[in-house]
Amino acid sequence: MKSIESIAELQLIIKEYRSEGKSIGLVPTMGFLHEGHLSLIDLAKKKSDIVIVSNFVNQLQFSPNEDFKVYPRDLIQDLKLCQERGADIVFTPQHGEIYPKGFSTYINEEKVSTDMCGISRPGHFRGVTTIVLKLLNIVQPDYIILGQKDAQQIAVVRRILIDLHINTEVIVGPTIREEDGIAKSSRNNYLSEVQRRDARAIYKALLTGKKMFDDGTRNVDRIMAEVIHVLTEVRRIRVIYVTIVNIDTMKPVKEIVPEKTIIATAVWMEEVRLIDNIIF
Ligand code: PAF
Repeated sequence: MKSIESIAELQLIIKEYRSEGKSIGLVPTMGFLHEGHLSLIDLAKKKSDIVIVSNFVNQLQFSPNEDFKVYPRDLIQDLKLCQERGADIVFTPQHGEIYPKGFSTYINEEKVSTDMCGISRPGHFRGVTTIVLKLLNIVQPDYIILGQKDAQQIAVVRRILIDLHINTEVIVGPTIREEDGIAKSSRNNYLSEVQRRDARAIYKALLTGKKMFDDGTRNVDRIMAEVIHVLTEVRRIRVIYVTIVNIDTMKPVKEIVPEKTIIATAVWMEEVRLIDNIIF
């Protein structure tokens, strides 16, 4: 496995792979890898000959009051995990390599990204779409592999691929959970023991919503109200949103269509922001 910082060097190697007719899967990450990321590497390996993992904490997708400075980082451990899991290249650019001096070009998706986390994290998706497009331009992969936990991110990336005529297929890996249901996330690292225990309510609430639907409830409002109720029973949780949306548009629906509709939530677990969703 190679660890590469420079775009020029990466592109030279990619050119060689391409001349050998090899397909490429890109797993974009911000590092501090956990089983969720590693499962995406597994998926990438199944689909493509070469797996490139990008490891870059993208400052542009953090607001000034967010956790960019303290976002957990452990490159040595990440490289070890990528090697063990069989990645071919880890791309670890410095900030200046990705955002050259004087940088002033951004990508803005204006529909799918505007609600949900688009409201509570202004500028976040502009940062995500800009870095994702940069990575796609640099690597030109056949596949980009993303995790279902970031459902809105997936929908936004799908949209920019269509809108900007980019010939890369999105592959989605399921949300990987701890034994007690908590979705794996680098931000779980911020949780104290009690906060972590209380965070179980998030998946429990989502499952409550799904069960209501499975048991015959069709009123979307009632399902959302029940999910909010389960969440607000936990003293440490503050609900940012609970919503039932179409998986592609991320807009609220009146009717739940299985596999096309998700119930998604973002909460504050005291000072830690967590998101999760499940597909009906
Ligand atoms: O999901 C993430 O970790 C990030 O948003 C991504 C896609 C790597 C872009 O920085």
